[in-house]
Amino acid sequence: TAPLRLAIIGLGTVGAGVIRLLEANRELVARRAGRPIEVVAISARDRNKDRGVDLSRYEWVDDMSTLAGRDDIDTVVELIGGSDGPALTLARQCLGQGKPFVTANKAMIAHHGLDLAREAERTGVALKYEAAVAGGVPVIKGLREGAAANRIMRVYGILNGTCNYILSTMERDGSAFADVLEEAQAKGYAEADPTFDIDGIDAAHKLSILASLSFGTEIDFPSVDITGIRHVLAADIREAAALGYRVRLIAMAECEEDGGENVGLFQRVHPMLVPVDHPLAHVDGALNAVVAEGNFVGRLFFQGAGAGEGPTASAVVADVIDVARDEYGPAFAMPAEWLQRQVKADGGAR
Ligand code: NDP
Ligand code: HSE
Repeated sequence: TAPLRLAIIGLGTVGAGVIRLLEANRELVARRAGRPIEVVAISARDRNKDRGVDLSRYEWVDDMSTLAGRDDIDTVVELIGGSDGPALTLARQCLGQGKPFVTANKAMIAHHGLDLAREAERTGVALKYEAAVAGGVPVIKGLREGAAANRIMRVYGILNGTCNYILSTMERDGSAFADVLEEAQAKGYAEADPTFDIDGIDAAHKLSILASLSFGTEIDFPSVDITGIRHVLAADIREAAALGYRVRLIAMAECEEDGGENVGLFQRVHPMLVPVDHPLAHVDGALNAVVAEGNFVGRLFFQGAGAGEGPTASAVVADVIDVARDEYGPAFAMPAEWLQRQVKADGGAR
């Protein structure tokens, strides 16, 4: 069978991880995909950087704008990051020219996902982004496919591994915020600009994607009410513990319904006190967890590694396997034109 030929663009924590996974699990992935997965081309900023993986057999691409039109590349995997700039240009070129596109880029999906989905639908190709929310936890597939038959009115959880690592390590060791942030960066959990993590923006990007998938509404990132963890002190965590609570950065979205219509969207990200006997209080380190409540399935609880090389690569390659199998549908809960226009958002006024 013809292989699925990839270009992997961005060779940092996630990109190098995808190459390592594809090498280590080559046979298994080919069997699951129904055909071999071959990396043909790669690119990043610095051609000479040592990435701890042998890249000598892959073609280095200097001009990314050539990728969309190349017949010897079947799918482009974007692991650069950033809501705009080269990642968005590449996505538009690929989807516009009918090239399937896999990304881990939640910032880009939160800001431009709807336009990109429309473009993918127009040219009839896959736009996949499982790694964009909760790293290795298959929550996009869970909501988009597994829970597709349900009306979901509420989705919430812990969506940022860096913040969860910081808060749970401060709680366990009493360490200082800045030291633990450095540890999280060294482990590859943090964004290139870690203020996206600690100011809650990354969690808000992810929440707006989950809300769209859950409620069938257009993504509405600007209406998320956001507070990060920058001002959480070790003393706050100690006081909370004395009262029987843990501090976690919680992302929460609810959709108010009236007569089967969504009438109000409520999305917020804040450090919250979680009672110690609640399952979210036991989500430690870089783990993420998502709870979704469906009207037939009941409460779903997804948990696993929310950041880091291996788990994120696992989600990216799962999407590549879907593309190889030709198993994909609309990028969101339904075709983009059927998504409900942004319902009146209260910006957290309640
Ligand atoms: P890194 O910063 O580790 O890697 C980014 C890569 O993109 C680097 O290889 C960099 O090149 C390359 N790059 C940056 N700018 C350009 C450019 N202008 N042209 C070409 N290449 C460029 O990021 P991560 O691997 O951590 O993250 C990648 C994506 O995955 C982001 O969207 C992130 O949000 C997402 N993600 C990350 C997770 C994680 O745990 N790290 C988890 C889930 C999603 P060079 O190396 O030469 O500098
Ligand atoms: N910086 C993100 C986090 C990476 O810490 O959760 C995973 O999306």
